[in-house]
Amino acid sequence: RADNVQLRSVRSSAAPQGRTLGATVEAKNVALLGAAGGIGQPLALLLKLNPQITELRLYDIANVKGVAADLSHINTSVKVVTMGWQSGVSGHTGPDELGAALTGADLVIIPAGVPRKPGMTRDDLFNINAGIVKTLATGVAQHAPGAILNIISNPVNSTVPIAAETLKAAGVYDKRKVLGVTTLDVVRAETFVAEAKGLDVVDVQVPVIGGHAGETILPLLSQAEAAALTQRIQNAGTEVVEAKAGAGSATLSMAYAAARFAESVLLALNGEKDVVECTFVESDVHPDFKFFASKVVLGPNGVEDFLPLGELSPAEQAGLDGMNELLTKNIKTGIEFANKA
Ligand code: NAD
Ligand code: LMR
Repeated sequence: RADNVQLRSVRSSAAPQGRTLGATVEAKNVALLGAAGGIGQPLALLLKLNPQITELRLYDIANVKGVAADLSHINTSVKVVTMGWQSGVSGHTGPDELGAALTGADLVIIPAGVPRKPGMTRDDLFNINAGIVKTLATGVAQHAPGAILNIISNPVNSTVPIAAETLKAAGVYDKRKVLGVTTLDVVRAETFVAEAKGLDVVDVQVPVIGGHAGETILPLLSQAEAAALTQRIQNAGTEVVEAKAGAGSATLSMAYAAARFAESVLLALNGEKDVVECTFVESDVHPDFKFFASKVVLGPNGVEDFLPLGELSPAEQAGLDGMNELLTKNIKTGIEFANKA
């Protein structure tokens, strides 16, 4: 549909090294928290290929030094020359090293936390992941207060409010900079629509609004297949969890999606115009929701502008109304957790 076709002007290529960047590009420091995990490792690989990055700091409470040593042998320009490793990528392990990983970071990407097993909802991860995100956001407040945050850890509908409240309590919250990564929903929507309609996937752009769980995932599709495709996109995370049969949830597709989102954030930080992505962020786009995923324009300070939802079909409007209870509850749970003593 015409009003939803222009999702973004930036598209990650399979070979990010090949992107032509403007002469004014200033490379950036990126910290990846949870870098030894299922998402963290392939995401670190993709980030190691991004010429917009000067330093990639890998942090985990599990041993991440092997990941760092391994990646450091790749002959791209991304490196850390300060602490830890002599060449390539630094590996930070353990809470004491969090400050070192964060200091000077322009972008902090957080996939730290436990993934789902079959039969679980994303909310079932709250008890463990809420505390992890609160701890890491506290570190960000202390060591990288101006950085842009990309939050991957589930449940995103609650972990983004947790990070926002934690930064607010520390007096360093900027709502333009705390971004829930919902790009995997967009990536899936684009893939499934292209498959269903026999299109080249590079020609398909689908915004996904709302949040990142069950019925709060609302792809804006207006094709005949919309009902079936919407259900598939909403259930796609569970599809992977079940196929992995206890070994975790989406990691490779998530790493790709996070790399695409990070690339857009970094391009915008470097002054590129018209960078548009969907993200779950504090927003006034929908009067009922303090945090909401929708199309935003990214700029040097994070979210510069929110794009209107455009005209919704009756089915999309029903989907938006139908997510009210769950999304409101998810957001409230996150805010209340962050403000507990
Ligand atoms: P994983 O268990 O393979 O890896 C998680 C990593 O986080 C581990 O290496 C672990 O040691 C680390 N970790 C735990 N606590 C930490 C802390 N306090 N500080 C630093 N590191 C810490 O899990 P995964 O498959 O990589 O998934 C990670 C999270 O991402 C899960 O919560 C999952 O639900 C979520 N996820 C989100 C999306 C999305 O679309 N936003 C998609 C897929 C997965
Ligand atoms: C996904 O959408 O794949 C992630 O949120 C992981 C999950 O638990 O489904």
